[in-house]
Amino acid sequence: MRTPIGILISGRGSNLMAIKSAADAGLLRAHIAFVGSDNPAAPGLTWAREQGLQTIELDYSSGRLRGEEQLEQAMVYYDTHHLVLAGFMRILSERFVERHKGMIINIHPSLLPSFPGKKGIEEAFRYGVKVTGVTVHIVDEQVDHGPILAQEAVTVEEGDTLQDLEDKIHGVEHKIYPVTIDRWLEEGDFSLPRLRRSIP
Ligand code: GAR
Repeated sequence: MRTPIGILISGRGSNLMAIKSAADAGLLRAHIAFVGSDNPAAPGLTWAREQGLQTIELDYSSGRLRGEEQLEQAMVYYDTHHLVLAGFMRILSERFVERHKGMIINIHPSLLPSFPGKKGIEEAFRYGVKVTGVTVHIVDEQVDHGPILAQEAVTVEEGDTLQDLEDKIHGVEHKIYPVTIDRWLEEGDFSLPRLRRSIP
């Protein structure tokens, strides 16, 4: 039984593409019920339409409440409880996150808690870190924050340009996001495995 998931994007949608490839290859116990975007011009949204996926433009022009109402309507319509943020550049309200606790997952292009926000790769690069990476986490009420499900480090080599680092980070994202989503759908929040095991 494949779990319906909603994927939210704001931009090019390369993680969406990686998730769809994994689902098409039978490597993900999910099917993409809909793709939502706050950005009608997002290239990822055009791509999703071309692929025959259901798409929804979320109208944030009159505020977050309207956008989130539309999102909840889509979740009801497509009978979807799980949301996957894949480059969705809006902050979900505390109310929304509370109502869908543990049911929203996000990917971020740094080793959180370092370099949260919209420019995680660039800020890490400009800081001069030698190791950065990718984090997948359950979404809580704070930005790029919540129980960590997976992290993978990426080394910044001597002579790497920002573009080199972006390419490496995206390569890791496309590998770990589908795998982590699949595990999340199977096990729920597995961020505290040792603590869990110690509870009788
Ligand atoms: C990804 O690198 C993702 O980690 C990042 O946006 C990019 C979207 O790329 N998300 C964040 O920065 C969240 N704070 P994509 O549209 O090609 O998947």
